Amino acid sequence: MSALSIERVDGSDLDLRQALLSADLPTDDTEDEGRAFFRIVSDDGKAVGFAGLQACEGDQLLRSVVVLPGLRGEGLGSAAVSAVLATVEAGSDVFLATTNASSFFARLEFIQVQRENLPAAVLATRQLSSLCPSSATIMKFIRPPT
Ligand SMILES: CC(C)(COP(=O)(O)OP(=O)(O)OC[C@H]1O[C@@H](n2cnc3c(N)ncnc32)[C@H](O)[C@@H]1OP(=O)(O)O)[C@@H](O)C(=O)NCCC(=O)NCCS
Repeated sequence: MSALSIERVDGSDLDLRQALLSADLPTDDTEDEGRAFFRIVSDDGKAVGFAGLQACEGDQLLRSVVVLPGLRGEGLGSAAVSAVLATVEAGSDVFLATTNASSFFARLEFIQVQRENLPAAVLATRQLSSLCPSSATIMKFIRPPT
């Protein structure tokens, strides 16, 4: 797999929104405050996917992780998640909610956590409180020791 880089994009970016829509991921809050979205770019300059972070007071919600159809299963999603996590300050915990990719994230050092153990600001995000069904798996990144 070639090297990847990440570039900030606005929540209104049409390619981002199209990628999320086609993966059935939420788009109705991408332009709200506190979101940071990234285009995942291969070394030949092509967009291969997107990912986002949502600030939750001192913590972050990883969201909107999508690799473009046709490019999946080549390690791009794993590399994209690692690149985005590298932008997060060491003092911040990173959470996510997923209905269909918990085993993908488990390979990337995320472990399942119960809703009752979440920081209030994470629990209050629309991703957890309304956009995702209550059956979604909630996960927390376990940062490897440095
Ligand atoms: C989830 C997603 C980002 C993974 O991207 P990818 O580039 O295919 O992932 P990788 O190639 O890095 O996969 C690493 C491993 O995870 C597995 N994997 C990929 N997607 C998976 C999923 N949805 N569930 C379980 N395992 C998955 C792969 O099979 C691969 O396993 P292998 O190494 O044994 O072959 C991609 O499938 C996608 O865009 N899905 C639609 C959007 C989505 O569901 N996003 C997650 C919710 S936020």
